[in-house]
Amino acid sequence: MRNKVTKAIFPVAGLGTRFLPATKSIPKEIMTLVDRPLIQYAIDEARAAGIKEFIFVTSRGKGALEDYFDHSPQLENELRKKGKDDLLEILKSTNMDSGTIAYMRQHKALGLGHAVWCARRLIGNEPFVVILPDDVIAAEKPCLQQMVEAYEKTGGNMVAAMEVPPEKASSYGVLDVEEDMGSMVSVKGMVEKPAPGTEPSNLAVIGRYILSPHVLKNLNKIKSGAGGEIQLTDAIAQEIGSDRGVYGYRFRGQRFDCGSKSGFLQATVAFGLSRDDLRDDLHDYLTGIMAAERVAQ
Ligand code: G1P
Repeated sequence: MRNKVTKAIFPVAGLGTRFLPATKSIPKEIMTLVDRPLIQYAIDEARAAGIKEFIFVTSRGKGALEDYFDHSPQLENELRKKGKDDLLEILKSTNMDSGTIAYMRQHKALGLGHAVWCARRLIGNEPFVVILPDDVIAAEKPCLQQMVEAYEKTGGNMVAAMEVPPEKASSYGVLDVEEDMGSMVSVKGMVEKPAPGTEPSNLAVIGRYILSPHVLKNLNKIKSGAGGEIQLTDAIAQEIGSDRGVYGYRFRGQRFDCGSKSGFLQATVAFGLSRDDLRDDLHDYLTGIMAAERVAQ
């Protein structure tokens, strides 16, 4: 029986400058899609996949994130007194059990690989998950759960993967595919943010990883790569050819790049339309403005 994967790292140290001025005083991960902070989507996905320990790699100014995960007895009491049971349930679903969350500071913005490496002592010698909360994935079966099920058969290292338009490939980690088995590919190379025109394929890495602890050892000695940063992609690439190997997993679901304004807006609309309490109003509004635009053209 393979080791169960129970620990997840959430790199949340980024400054979120693309969302200034909002991120001047709130962490990007607290920004809401409809009524849930970005980070809550990541936590829910991790829980659905069986994760029990949540490690946040933070930086200065991320205090609101820690507060968000605290229990709020006063608020809960108020809601209880007022008989607002549905809100109380929603609030309770965000509570985390004592001792299941850890925060680790990344003292210097040296890249994603460095952020993950900062959590090495909390991971120890176990396989672990990395979730990038900017990548929000809407799926019938949560993406990470799909991956954990696939990983139980393969072991090794697994990254979420998705075809992107070739001209966009240079914004991602990109896979060089050895064998394409449909939902799974075995990987013979990985490049972080390849120069336009040099990408080995248009199969991009999306922010869900299940990794062997060897990746942390690789990070011990890795040099800075693309953009002068310590890249997680490079440390994973060093696993190619080991008996663990690297696999890409084409998940079923729709990914939103919530690190970009346009992706964030698209996710807001999509999640709004998926909600019973908002669908009709939002739908009418959107059809109305689309029709008005057609008339104006
Ligand atoms: C990070 C990873 C990259 C991956 C991407 C997915 O890049 O370094 O390999 O393809 O996330 O969103 P970033 O978007 O942080 O530049």
